[in-house]
Amino acid sequence: MAKIIVVGASGTIGNAVADLLMPDHEVIRVGHREGDFTVDLSAKASIASLFERIGAFDVIVSAAGASRFGKTGEASDEDFRVGIENKLMGQVNLVRLALGRITAGGAITLTTGLLAREPWPGTVPTAMVNAALEGFVRAAALDLAPDMRLNAVSPILVTETARRMGMDAVGSMPATETARAYQASIDGDMTGQVLDVRDFGKIEA
Ligand SMILES: NC(=O)c1ccc[n+]([C@@H]2O[C@H](COP(=O)([O-])OP(=O)(O)OC[C@H]3O[C@@H](n4cnc5c(N)ncnc54)[C@H](OP(=O)(O)O)[C@@H]3O)[C@@H](O)[C@H]2O)c1
Repeated sequence: MAKIIVVGASGTIGNAVADLLMPDHEVIRVGHREGDFTVDLSAKASIASLFERIGAFDVIVSAAGASRFGKTGEASDEDFRVGIENKLMGQVNLVRLALGRITAGGAITLTTGLLAREPWPGTVPTAMVNAALEGFVRAAALDLAPDMRLNAVSPILVTETARRMGMDAVGSMPATETARAYQASIDGDMTGQVLDVRDFGKIEA
């Protein structure tokens, strides 16, 4: 049984990941406003305080991080800033501040997204942040080996999110299926990989 921190556990994906891991592990649910612990990913001091409060752990999963959509000519400085400070540097700082606290042989799994490699029009701020995260994971994993594994999961549109936004859910993936890629990342021996959820879960027909 590993001690696993799930950041974003109050969210659509994070809640499904925490539920999937619960039977086999000690899961610590972390949210922005609610959970066993709270953290603001966009504030480095808040992440440091989270680790201080939790103590040693074996695994972190991050299924959190805000980022915005917007067209190249229309997205504001603020639209770019939110994703860079929250989804990108928030998750990068989770990794940086976990060093020295995570047990040897531990693993970290971050969340990127399909838009890094298969963007839609009008998604530039998020597509850019996802692509940067994937570069970080590939490069940082080299530095962290062999003591720690670092991977990312790349979700496609989640079915619950599609329904909430009034979008067509065909081709999306339920959160419970999406969570399987996170479990594979924790249970496997890979590092520096971006796991495409379509290789692990069933898509909504
Ligand atoms: N859903 C999709 O279709 C989809 C597709 C591709 C990629 N993704 C990516 O997957 C990740 C999770 O998505 P989701 O749909 O599950 O999100 P969600 O339902 O909106 O949940 C977001 C989670 O992150 C937490 N959070 C928000 N701001 C935070 C902050 N500043 N510091 C710490 N935690 C914060 C929230 O906590 P509170 O509830 O307390 O606010 C919540 O637990 C995101 O990075 C998203 O870009 C999602």
